[in-house]
Amino acid sequence: MLKKLLGLFGKRPVVVPDAAKLVEGEARTIEVGDLGSDGRQVLLCRVDGKVHALDTECPHNQGGRLIRGPLHEGRYAICPLHNYKFDPATGEAKDVACGAARTYRCEERDGRIEVHL
Ligand code: FES
Repeated sequence: MLKKLLGLFGKRPVVVPDAAKLVEGEARTIEVGDLGSDGRQVLLCRVDGKVHALDTECPHNQGGRLIRGPLHEGRYAICPLHNYKFDPATGEAKDVACGAARTYRCEERDGRIEVHL
């Protein structure tokens, strides 16, 4: 599910309600701001009970994006263009020579996810 959140840049975190909807081993995308200008798309992933946030822009720089849905082996975000996988905790690529995906600090509290962009 794609969720659009507007205008929440700066020091205030982006707040995503219903953290429980992000189940173990899954990824969900959110859009923050205007994607036509300074907005971005963020992938939220839950691994070992912890939520991680990655920019969906693939560091392979061939135009792919990390996608929502089940994580590879329940642990790795996937870019389907060349099937690269990324560790949501560190952004590092798995088993390929590629830069790391951009990560964002995020916290889960009171049933919500706070993403610090
Ligand atoms: S662009 Fe993502 S794996 Fe190639």
